[in-house]
Amino acid sequence: MTWINLSDSNNLLHQFVSELRDVNIQTDRMRFRKNIERIGQIMAYEVSKHLNWIEIEITTPLGKHNSKRLAEQPVLATILRAGLSMHNGLLDFFDKADCAFISAYRNHTDNHNFEIKVEYKACPSIEQRDLIIIDPMLATGQSIVSAYHALLKNGIPKNIHILGLIASKQGIKFVQENIKSNFTLWTAAVDEALNEYSYIVPGLGDAGDLCFGEKL
Ligand code: URA
Repeated sequence: MTWINLSDSNNLLHQFVSELRDVNIQTDRMRFRKNIERIGQIMAYEVSKHLNWIEIEITTPLGKHNSKRLAEQPVLATILRAGLSMHNGLLDFFDKADCAFISAYRNHTDNHNFEIKVEYKACPSIEQRDLIIIDPMLATGQSIVSAYHALLKNGIPKNIHILGLIASKQGIKFVQENIKSNFTLWTAAVDEALNEYSYIVPGLGDAGDLCFGEKL
């Protein structure tokens, strides 16, 4: 695993993550979604530096120019529902990407214990492609690992990038131990702990609820 934490330097991500965490700002649902989307855009830009590029000659109104274009389109694989805003941000920049969606939810046996259930997947072939897996809250890491195994039924990717907005240290360790292929983990923030409900502390709360409203 190669881990790139984008908040190691001073950059705009700090502003956006700070607003996402702030109880006085996060109630503005549109701003909350927009900030996640903007982080998705920044991450797309950073990941793009690690993709393959080809040179092509194009014609401008005034002449010829040797430009660069993405050699292949990535597959953006997003875990529902909290990942949707981040997905939109990535899709703004990787605007020709193919998309995959996976439902992964916590099936609770009691207040504190759960297993991850994957019940829905819509995914193209990922054989020899750049696979970008998107899950904003990397808490225990179990959702990412379950989603990854479900996606592998659609092929063996060439490169894997896992994007978490806020990750817990425990989640990062779990993902590292349970995904055997080589992959790059991208984070915008890292938090120390999980609480007894496996929520990231200090985190930001429930990202899905804050984007779309509380569920039953
Ligand atoms: N999902 C969230 O939305 N928040 C957490 O802290 C953990 C999982």
